[in-house]
Formats: sequence, C-alpha cells, structure tokens
Amino acid sequence: MRQKKIDKTPARLDFIQSATGLILALFIMGHILFEASILVSNELMYRVTIMFEGYYFFGETYPGIISFLAAAIFVLFIVHATVAMRKFPADYRQYKIMKEHTARMKHEDSSLWMIQVITGFIMMFIGSVHLYIMMTQPSDIGPFASSSRVVDELMGLLYFVLLISVILHAFIGLYRLALKWGFMEGKNTELSRKRFKLLMKGMIIFYIVLGIFSLAKYTYIGLTHDFSDGVEYKSQTIKPERHL
Ligand code: HEM
Repeated sequence: MRQKKIDKTPARLDFIQSATGLILALFIMGHILFEASILVSNELMYRVTIMFEGYYFFGETYPGIISFLAAAIFVLFIVHATVAMRKFPADYRQYKIMKEHTARMKHEDSSLWMIQVITGFIMMFIGSVHLYIMMTQPSDIGPFASSSRVVDELMGLLYFVLLISVILHAFIGLYRLALKWGFMEGKNTELSRKRFKLLMKGMIIFYIVLGIFSLAKYTYIGLTHDFSDGVEYKSQTIKPERHL
C-alpha cells in the first residue's frame, strides 16, 4: 500500500520564520544597548563604533565590516518578512473576519498577533531604508555623524516609528516563540503565561524608554553641535587609520 506523503513545507517555513525571528530579535536587543552608549559619552559611542569596524582586532578601522553586517541582517530581514507574509490576512474579507474575531473574543493573544502584523508591515518599508543607509554609508556612523543624520537628514521621525515598531514586534515575537516552544507548559500554565507576559511588557517598556532617551541625545547633539568642521568625531586618545 502506498503511503501518503506528508508535506513538510509548512513546518519548514515555520522553522525558518522562528529561527530568523529569534536571530533578529537578539540582534535588536544588542543594537539598542550598543547605540545607547551615546547616553554615557560621545567617546564611548565612538569606541563602540570603531569596535564594530574591527579596530580592536586589526588596529585599524574597516567600515566595510559594517556594510557586510548590514547586508547579512538585510538578508535575514528579507527572508523573515517573505516567509511571514504568508500569514498576513490575504484580502479585505479575511481581514474583517479576523478583526471581528479579535474584538469579540477580547483575546489578548490575538491582539498581540494583530500588532505583529501591523508593525511587521511598517518595518518592511522603514527598516529597509535604515538598513540600506547603513549598508551604503558605513563610514558615517559616530556621535556626530549619527546625530547629524538624525537632525539634518530628518531621520529622527523615522527612527522613532521604527523604534516603537521593532521593539513591540521583537518582544511580542519572543513571547509567542516561547509559547510555541512550550516554555510555558508545566504545573501551572496560567501562572507561567502571566509571568512571561509581564516579562515581555517589562522589556518593551525598558527598550522603548532607553531608545527614546538615546534618540533625544542624538537630537540634542544634532541641534547644538557646530558641524562646520564636518561630522567626523575626533577622539583625543585614539586616531585610527581608516580603510574601506
Ligand atoms: C547591521 C545593521 C544595522 C546597523 C549597522 C545599524 C546601525 C544604527 C546606528 C549607527 C544607529 C544610530 C543612528 C544613525 O547613525 O543613523 C541606529 C539607530 C536605529 N536603528 Fe539600526 N542598525 C542596523 C540594523 C537595524 C535594524 C534591522 C533595525 C530594526 C528593524 C534597526 C533599528 C534602529 C532604530 C529603531 C534606531 C533608533 C534607535 C533609538 O531610538 O535609540 N537597526 N542604527
């Protein structure tokens, strides 16, 4: 007797979505923390920048490393979005049914899913703009160059929307992953679900507040610093040779 073949594609796509989502969420947690170095000092943000440019490894800086990193993240971002798109409501009727369902059930988890769909959609556009700039202008990162971009190139508003979207999306995503992978099963499922949800909300508040403070600092520098000498930050202690 011939056995019916099981189609493994949905499970594979699901795995790809989870794995790329997990990597991107971890990336963004590090990203917002490193970038908040501006809150300590310009010098620290500069040192974090040259660290990613390989200074502490090669003794010289190679901004090309940032382009490479941004391109790798961009690939993950595109794969994640492409795979996730199959779960978007396909047409207006489907959307309406889902919305009514979400409202009637007042089920927090389906509202969380809805937030993920919306923030994911927003990020496909503004996340791509940011990643493209990072990929093509890797030498223009630093306490002054970044601040100039935030203020003079009007990236502040885009970053604000991106910040809210990515933090909500990442932590709701991690919560749903934990749920899917059975981290909340155990003796008291209800209680562990509540705890994970509390953790998710705490992380969202922490990262959004931190991101807003960093953005405020970049804006402050952008408004008050005299850029007549250009946007390059000159450290008193480190003067690395820069390559591409
Ligand atoms: C390797 C890839 C990336 C690099 C090198 C990078 C680098 C940076 C840098 C240097 C800034 C400071 C502002 C500036 O210089 O323009 C910044 C801000 C920001 N980035 Fe990225 N980024 C990357 C990927 C991403 C991704 C994938 C996201 C989300 C989808 C993201 C979200 C943000 C947000 C929200 C801000 C503003 C943060 C705040 O409000 O404190 N970045 N990024």
